[in-house]
Amino acid sequence: MACKKDTPTMPETLLVTGAAGQLGRLALDHLATIHRGPIVAGTRDPARLADLAARGIEARRLDFDDAASLAEGFRGVDRALIVSTDALGQPGRRLAQHRAAVEAAAKAGVRYLAYTSMPNPAPGSPVVFAGDHHGTEEAIRASGLPHTILRVSWYQENLLASLPGILASGVWASAAGDGRVAYVAREDAARAAAAALAMGPGVTGTLDVTGPRGWSVAEMAALLTRLLGRAIQVAALDDAALAAGLAAHGVPPVMVPVIVSFDRNTREGRMPAPTDVVARLTGTAPRTLEAFFESQKATFAAAA
Ligand SMILES: NC(=O)c1ccc[n+]([C@@H]2O[C@H](COP(=O)([O-])OP(=O)(O)OC[C@H]3O[C@@H](n4cnc5c(N)ncnc54)[C@H](OP(=O)(O)O)[C@@H]3O)[C@@H](O)[C@H]2O)c1
Repeated sequence: MACKKDTPTMPETLLVTGAAGQLGRLALDHLATIHRGPIVAGTRDPARLADLAARGIEARRLDFDDAASLAEGFRGVDRALIVSTDALGQPGRRLAQHRAAVEAAAKAGVRYLAYTSMPNPAPGSPVVFAGDHHGTEEAIRASGLPHTILRVSWYQENLLASLPGILASGVWASAAGDGRVAYVAREDAARAAAAALAMGPGVTGTLDVTGPRGWSVAEMAALLTRLLGRAIQVAALDDAALAAGLAAHGVPPVMVPVIVSFDRNTREGRMPAPTDVVARLTGTAPRTLEAFFESQKATFAAAA
C-alpha cells in the first residue's frame, strides 16, 4: 500500500534557500549527512549546483525577488531553512525579500521554518541592518508556523577582511571598547542551522549561535601578538574617529557606517555571551578563535 506523503513514517522534504552561498552550501552538505529524506537546494541559479544531482539533491530555482519562483520553489517542502540574503545596498529590499519568502513558504504548506538572524536585532540596535532581521523574525512569528530563529554571531571569517591591514600596520583601531564578541566559525553556524532543520519542531525558539568564548579587541590583539611574535597595539577610538580612519584607508563609503555600527554594538554590550547551542545542536564543540587564527598563521605572518 502506498504511503501518503504526510504519514509520520515518511521522511520529510527539507529545503535550504541560498544554497549556492557559503553558509547555504555548507548547511546543505551537512544536512546530506544527517537527513535521510529528500533534500532540495533553493538558489537563484540552479546551474551553479549541478553537482548536487549526483547526491540525489534537487537544485531548484528560488529567488526571493521573483514571485513565480517562490510559489514553485516551496512546492512539496515540509521544512525550510531561510538563509538571509546579502541585499544590503538598497534599504528595505532585504526585508521585503524575506517577508516574501516567509509568506510563500506558508502559502505552499511548509510546516516549519528556520532562519539565520543576527544577535539581538530588536529596535534600539545600532547595527544598520538590524531592522531586516527583526522584521523577518516578526514575520516568521506572525506566520504561526513552528520555527527556530538562529541568531548567528559574527563569523570568525569576517576578521579576515581587516586583519591583513591591522597586521601590516601593527595597530588595531577600534571603537568597540571592552565589549566582547563570541565569533563563530561559518561552518559551525551552518552545521547548527542544518541540525535545527533536521530536528524541525523538536528544536523551536530563539537561539544565539556563538563560538565558545567572547573576545575583546585587546584580547585578540594579545592573542595575535603571541601567535606571530609581533606586537599588535590597540588604538581606542570614538565612532567619528573610527569612521574617518576607515574612510582614509579606502574602506568603501557604504561599509563605513556598517563597521562603525558593529563596534558601537559591541561596545554597548549587545553581543551575546557564549552559548552551548552549536555543541547542543551538532554534538560537536565549535571551533575556537585560537584554532582559527592558528589555521591562518601563514597568511597572517605574510601580512605582518
Ligand atoms: N554572521 C555574520 O558574520 C555574517 C556575515 C556575512 C553575511 N551574513 C549573512 O548571512 C548570510 C549567509 O552568509 P554567507 O557567508 O553564506 O553569505 P554569501 O556567501 O555572501 O551568500 C549570500 C546569500 O544571499 C543569497 N541571496 C542573494 N540574493 C538572493 C535572492 N534574491 N533570493 C534568495 N537568496 C538570495 C544567496 O543565495 P544564492 O546565491 O544561492 O541564490 C546566498 O545564499 C548572508 O547572506 C548575510 O545575510 C552573516
